[in-house]
Amino acid sequence: MVNYTIVDHPLVSHYLTALRNKNTLKPEFKESLDKLSFLLASHVYSTLKTEDITVQTPLKKCKGKTIKHKVVLLPILRAGLGLLQGFTSLLPGVTVSHIGLYRDEESLRPIKYYFKFPEFKNKDNLKVIILDPMVATGGSSIFTIEYLMNMGIKDINLVSLLCAPEGINAIEKRFNNVQKKLLKIYTCSVDEKLNEKGYILPGLGDAGDRLFGT
Ligand code: PRP
Ligand code: URA
Repeated sequence: MVNYTIVDHPLVSHYLTALRNKNTLKPEFKESLDKLSFLLASHVYSTLKTEDITVQTPLKKCKGKTIKHKVVLLPILRAGLGLLQGFTSLLPGVTVSHIGLYRDEESLRPIKYYFKFPEFKNKDNLKVIILDPMVATGGSSIFTIEYLMNMGIKDINLVSLLCAPEGINAIEKRFNNVQKKLLKIYTCSVDEKLNEKGYILPGLGDAGDRLFGT
C-alpha cells in the first residue's frame, strides 16, 4: 500500500470547501489556499528530524533543538506555487526548486518544460517535498517522483489538496516496491473519480486557472 495520509482538521475542511465552491473568487481562493498551505506544512513538517543544541538564554545555558533535515520544496508549476506560502513561512531557510510540467490535453501525459534543482554533494538528511494541489491521473506526480529518484534522492514527500483514486492507484502501482518511509503522500481528500477529460470529481476545477485567473 502507498503511504498516504489524509490530513483531517476542521480548518482544512473549512478552507477546502471554500476552494471547491465555484462562487469563490480569486482573492478568496488564493487566501484559502494560503491558509491550507500553513495547515499542511505544520502537519508535514511534524516528521522533520531535529538535533540537540545548547543556547545561552539571557539567564543561563539551555538545551534545545534545531532542524536537521535539509528540505527542498519542489512546486510543480504552475498550480504548485499556490502551496508555497505556508511551507516557506514556517521554514524560511528552505530551498525552493521548481519543475514545470503541463498535461497534454489529448493524452493527459505530463510534458516537462523546466527544471532547476541545486547540486547536493551529500544527500544525507535531504528531504524533497513536492507540492501540487491536484493528483488526477497521477502522471505529473509519478513523472516528478521518478525524476527525483533517478537523481538519487531517497526521501520524498508529495503534498496535494485533492487526489483522484485513479491517481493514488497509479502511484501505488508504479512505486509498490519503494519503502513506505521513503515516499509519503499527504492530501486533504481522496475524491470520487476522474471525468472523461481527466478532471477530478467533485474536485475544485482547474487549480492553476482559478489561482492565477487565467
Ligand atoms: C494540473 C495540476 C497537476 C496536474 C495533475 O496541472 O496542477 O500538476 O494537472 O494532473 P495529473 O495527475 O493527471 O498529471 P496542469 O497541467 O493543468 O498545469 P498548470 O498547473 O500549469 O495549470
Ligand atoms: N488539474 C486540475 O487543475 N484539476 C483537475 O481536476 C485535474 C487536474
